[in-house]
Amino acid sequence: MSDAVLGQFKQAIVEEKKIEGRKLKIGIIGTGWIAESHIQSYKIQPDVEIVAAADLIPGKAEKFMERFGVSGVRFYPSHKEMIDNEELDGVSICTYNTQHAEPTIYALKKNIPVLLEKPFTVTLEEAEAVCKAEKESTAFVSVGFQPRFDANMQMIKKIVDSGVLGKIYYIQTGGGRRRGIPGSTFIEKSTGGIGALGDIGCYSLDMVLNAIGYPKPLTVSGYVSDYFGKNPKYNGADAARFSVDDFGAAFIRLEGGIILDFRIAWAMHVNTPGDTIIFGTEGALRIPSTDCWNGSVGGPMTIYHDVCGAQTETVIPILQNSGKGGLFDKKIRSFLDAVKTGGPAPVPTSQILYNQAIIDGINKSSALGKEVEIVFNED
Ligand SMILES: NC(=O)c1ccc[n+]([C@@H]2O[C@H](COP(=O)([O-])OP(=O)(O)OC[C@H]3O[C@@H](n4cnc5c(N)ncnc54)[C@H](O)[C@@H]3O)[C@@H](O)[C@H]2O)c1
Repeated sequence: MSDAVLGQFKQAIVEEKKIEGRKLKIGIIGTGWIAESHIQSYKIQPDVEIVAAADLIPGKAEKFMERFGVSGVRFYPSHKEMIDNEELDGVSICTYNTQHAEPTIYALKKNIPVLLEKPFTVTLEEAEAVCKAEKESTAFVSVGFQPRFDANMQMIKKIVDSGVLGKIYYIQTGGGRRRGIPGSTFIEKSTGGIGALGDIGCYSLDMVLNAIGYPKPLTVSGYVSDYFGKNPKYNGADAARFSVDDFGAAFIRLEGGIILDFRIAWAMHVNTPGDTIIFGTEGALRIPSTDCWNGSVGGPMTIYHDVCGAQTETVIPILQNSGKGGLFDKKIRSFLDAVKTGGPAPVPTSQILYNQAIIDGINKSSALGKEVEIVFNED
């Protein structure tokens, strides 16, 4: 079914649910760190009522809502009980990575729209299962990439779409921190599942793949390591429980003859692995090294192109974001607006499936020590 036909179908279901003229009933699954940003953004929306919250840790959701001064909420010990017992218009899934797919599929089976925190999932197989459940559902999933709402990030896509760069053939991207390994549930296989690749790598990939229209990934030669995370010299007591990647790099072939050269690090012995550079047949774009997980570019971008035979550099000034609220508020608002219209999802899984396929391919290639084909099911 085409996205347009699917959209009309989902719209009809929304009308049936009669959400016009009343507040949207929202539930939050997982009340840890990032849920704090969700609740603060929901609280400033005039058309939202937080009616339910779930967390596996007894008492955590109750304390969370008390801390944020939200009353009248019903509490549940996991996503299942919440979804089984509530009539919800939408859910925010703020669980750690290994608990992204299961609650999302459970919500989709009950036709509840989902705002799912990034990364989409841990494995490609999970991402495929979510996409399948979404196709069988009247609801949609939007993946929580708030940088998508930044004017400078949007400008990258506008520049590519304008044609000023010509045909894109090579991209160098990535990012990282000299020291910046998180703790908490990010660093264990059982909860984080993947490390720097999933935490910040997915943002770098989204920044460039979204700009060039998310071409399909074909092959990847990937590498991951954990030299910093596992070393008490750099990671203190957390080294003993560290079981994910802290660095990833890859050479990826995309449909349309495009090469993507990518690297990402939670820790390394250099301040940055470099700027993002997009090479095209008519021009190139330099995006100064960016902590893109924080939502924007690292400085004014430069287009290198020839104007009437003269090698010219055009600097794009940093743009201010318009409208009310920060990027996180815009992410929440975009989800609520999509709930009201029955979709489409502001950040659709049809795109982010490719992002996840690359991350999964990097891990598989690294384990095998050779280039792998990226094979996945989009039906
Ligand atoms: N968008 C952003 O800027 C951003 C920033 C930080 C983290 N994140 C993402 O948010 C997610 C959560 O990160 P965090 O730091 O808040 O983690 P966290 O460990 O602080 O919180 C996760 C909570 O989910 C609960 N949980 C897990 N499975 C559950 C289930 N099935 N039902 C109910 N509760 C469940 C856990 O008990 C925990 O309290 C991660 O995927 C992370 O990548 C996004």
